[in-house]
Amino acid sequence: MAVRTADDPYGLDSLTLDGLRARPGAKWAGVDGRLAAWVADMDFPIAPAIRERLVELAATDVGYANWPRVYRSPLPELFAERSEQRFGWAPDVDRLHEVADVMQGVQVAVHHLSRPGDGVVVHVPAYPPFLATVAEMERRLVEVPAALVDGAWAFDHDELDARLRRNPARVLVLCHPHNPTGHVFTRPELEQVADIVTRHRLVVVSDEIHAELVHPGHPHVPFASLSTEVAARTVTVTSSSKAFNLAGLRWAILHSGSDELHSTLRALPQHYLGAPNVLAVAATNAAWRHGDGWQQAVAARLDANRQLVGNLLAEHLPAARYALPDATYLAWLDMRACGFDGDPAATLRQRGVELSPGPRFGPHGEGFARLNFATSAAVLTEIVAAMGRGEAAES
Ligand SMILES: Cc1ncc(COP(=O)(O)O)c(C=O)c1O
Repeated sequence: MAVRTADDPYGLDSLTLDGLRARPGAKWAGVDGRLAAWVADMDFPIAPAIRERLVELAATDVGYANWPRVYRSPLPELFAERSEQRFGWAPDVDRLHEVADVMQGVQVAVHHLSRPGDGVVVHVPAYPPFLATVAEMERRLVEVPAALVDGAWAFDHDELDARLRRNPARVLVLCHPHNPTGHVFTRPELEQVADIVTRHRLVVVSDEIHAELVHPGHPHVPFASLSTEVAARTVTVTSSSKAFNLAGLRWAILHSGSDELHSTLRALPQHYLGAPNVLAVAATNAAWRHGDGWQQAVAARLDANRQLVGNLLAEHLPAARYALPDATYLAWLDMRACGFDGDPAATLRQRGVELSPGPRFGPHGEGFARLNFATSAAVLTEIVAAMGRGEAAES
């Protein structure tokens, strides 16, 4: 149970290792007692308004929702308002489709917008399910690699253009903000990408699930907001789940600027994509109406933690290279100079810490691992100290 104090009204610092290890979810229950810094869930207690609403519903009624249509909740309208207020992008409510999760939305889009053998562009390192999607759907992977430029992760958009000239493709899956590097694509970058995809006639499937997790100085610009023409070749998929730590509740939303996908989705029988989960809808509603205070406290903590990661690495694992992420609570660690093998997460597992293995993010992930720093400063300190603990013994 979260312990709330005047200094810590949301209990973000009240985490204990015993409490975390008693949790039933994958992050802590799936790691055999190791310190969990892998899957993208935050350790923080959820916003009080969400918890209260979920408890209230559980205590009264989790039957069919009283919405005008059971397969469409009130969230599309709220999402459109929120998006306009936060990001200056007003999605067309009629083009919003609720889905169970973001990856379902991405796969629905890739399935309907391309065929086996078609090229699908992905920036690498990539969120592993993107790579799995391309392989499972028998599309041809067109990779655009990341590089460290002036201490920050960046993507070479001229290289995107050059690769598309050699490898025609139908779809670009844009991870914006980018997991695992934490790169936030700036407006000029997005404009360059938009120019390229327009010339090569690609549809962009923009996964914006991390949009509300940007750090100061890195505003999120929805890809579809660039222009009417760009919107017409963009499918945006997002959710409340990352920003409010609700991944298990399963709710996401897809906006199809593409007429082709929109008419395909409209033509589906009503229940084909399933109906939204009443608890997820209630939680998202509470998050969006009453979650600002919690969200600001979490944002401040994540901003402090991304700095803390750098300090802790300098102390405990100085050979690791780390570029401050512009967004998210994920640190993409270059451990090639640490003397580990191609999969540093395997060595770190022996030291009692679970990170996400870099090679799962594609071949460019050899020698890398992804650290999730969405936890209290005390737990983060334990995690990075444990990562470095074998150093003295092994050197
Ligand atoms: C970029 C990105 N997309 C999608 C997901 C998964 O979302 P969902 O569980 O809604 O499919 C994640 C989860 O970490 C993610 O980082």
